[in-house]
Amino acid sequence: MARLSVHTLRDLKARGRRFAMITAYDYPSARLVEQAGIPIILVGDSLGSVVLGYDSTVPVTMEDVIYHTRAVVRATERAIVVADMPFMSYQANADEAMRNAGRLLKEGGATAVKLEGGSHIAPLVRRMVEAGIPVMGHLGLTPQSVNQFGGHKVQGKTPAAAAKLIGDAHTLEEAGAFAVVLETIPAPLAGMVSRRLSIPTIGIGAGAECDGQVQVFHDLLGLYDDQRPLKHAKRYAVIGEVIREAVRGYISEVEGGAFPAAEHSFPMSADTFAELTGGGRHELDAVVLAELAS
Ligand code: KIV
Repeated sequence: MARLSVHTLRDLKARGRRFAMITAYDYPSARLVEQAGIPIILVGDSLGSVVLGYDSTVPVTMEDVIYHTRAVVRATERAIVVADMPFMSYQANADEAMRNAGRLLKEGGATAVKLEGGSHIAPLVRRMVEAGIPVMGHLGLTPQSVNQFGGHKVQGKTPAAAAKLIGDAHTLEEAGAFAVVLETIPAPLAGMVSRRLSIPTIGIGAGAECDGQVQVFHDLLGLYDDQRPLKHAKRYAVIGEVIREAVRGYISEVEGGAFPAAEHSFPMSADTFAELTGGGRHELDAVVLAELAS
């Protein structure tokens, strides 16, 4: 099966069709979301929080993203796989950024990369696109700048901030980005940006007028119940409880002796067992013998 191309998304927008993107970070999650029909997967640096247990995306490294991207690519045939460029993999200098973006395609097998930031990264986006690296932009609440923002706050709330965001979105489109994520901005602003751009917008906490939506796998599936529910995340299942319940069942069956049962065990012939135990010198329980013979 041929992998979808980044142009698919633009075509979907042109035809007025919305699409869903989701994060995945490993083989099983990627396999499941592709089987469910997802056209585009983000190996987000959110893996820092939801997979690696950090309290932000800042510690995530290139090696982390490459490792997880490879697993996602191995699990999928059709979905576009976008790899996030982690914090400080593209900010320090343009040559290093180019090499790192290239690594995500060459070593990770990603279809495209995602970078956070507006007009200031547009020259870099242009250079990547010219080198054949498809780029997804990311505006609004860009989590790598959480320390700069002073927390996870709604962005683009003042007229000046909203105008800047609109300008940034245009600049990214002109630089050749194939799509732009809009995170945690007022819904009417996301609507304006979506109508003005010909590339698709992909919202998370940005309202219903975006061309696509993105959600974090673990939020959507309710894998964690100890985290404060995020306003922009919708739980479609509570898999965390399903997993805990299954593991509780396993513990209790092991402790009570119900697992493993005969059907989970491998038999040995009565002759072999008898030979092994010295031809009857050792006691062979009649029940065991009957079991072996069956
Ligand atoms: O890392 C991530 O998961 C993201 C999405 C929230 C867009 O950047």
